Amino acid sequence: MPAGLLELFLTGLLHMTPDVQQPSEEDKKVADEFKAQGNDLMRKEQYKEALDCYSRAIEKDRANAVYYSNRAAAYSKMNEQEKAIDDCLMALRIDPNYSKAYGRKGLAHTALNQHRDAIHCYKKALELDPSNDSYKNNLELAEQQLRETGDPGAGPGGALGGGMNLGGMDIGSLLNNPTLMNMATSMMSNPQMQQM
Ligand SMILES: *[C@@H]1O[C@H](CO)[C@@H](O)[C@H](O)[C@H]1NC(C)=O
Ligand SMILES: *[C@@H]1O[C@H](CO)[C@@H](O)[C@H](O)[C@H]1NC(C)=O
Repeated sequence: MPAGLLELFLTGLLHMTPDVQQPSEEDKKVADEFKAQGNDLMRKEQYKEALDCYSRAIEKDRANAVYYSNRAAAYSKMNEQEKAIDDCLMALRIDPNYSKAYGRKGLAHTALNQHRDAIHCYKKALELDPSNDSYKNNLELAEQQLRETGDPGAGPGGALGGGMNLGGMDIGSLLNNPTLMNMATSMMSNPQMQQM
């Protein structure tokens, strides 16, 4: 697929309003209880159980960035970094100013040796929360790793993903998302789309 078309598609996708139903007050309350339970389990290092709690919180309330960001932390602990990245992207779609979601996305990229993507995330996190030293330290570490080992984890989107960024999402992670890419490819091969 030509890069221009792809970019057009992704831009359109990002501007679509997420199909999020407003949860009832009761659902919000239940969701928050699941989150609290998840946080307890994270402290006890029961990551799988914590993850299930965050998923249930998300089922009840899909409009809360914290639930996705916390589930990302659980995925990272279980070394499922791609899923952690997807959840961070969801969190950032809901709240583009959520520094912690950038920080967590950075950690997932670091674990995947995607140092350029990690640097981008830590910079965004620092921009949003300049007082947090952990972002500063992680940024310095990632820059050092990039100098010493290059960017071995960079995927097919690496070259594109370097500087390109749409509304807080980096193209690199989008290109690495198989569901999204399948969707893009099938939409792009639809003759009606090609006349756009
Ligand atoms: C993000 O923060 C900026 C600067 O503080 C603010 O202008 C903007 O409205 C915020 N965006 C959201 C979606 O909260
Ligand atoms: C800095 O960010 C990390 C990661 O998001 C968080 O765990 C920590 O509480 C933050 N520290 C401060 C002082 O806000």
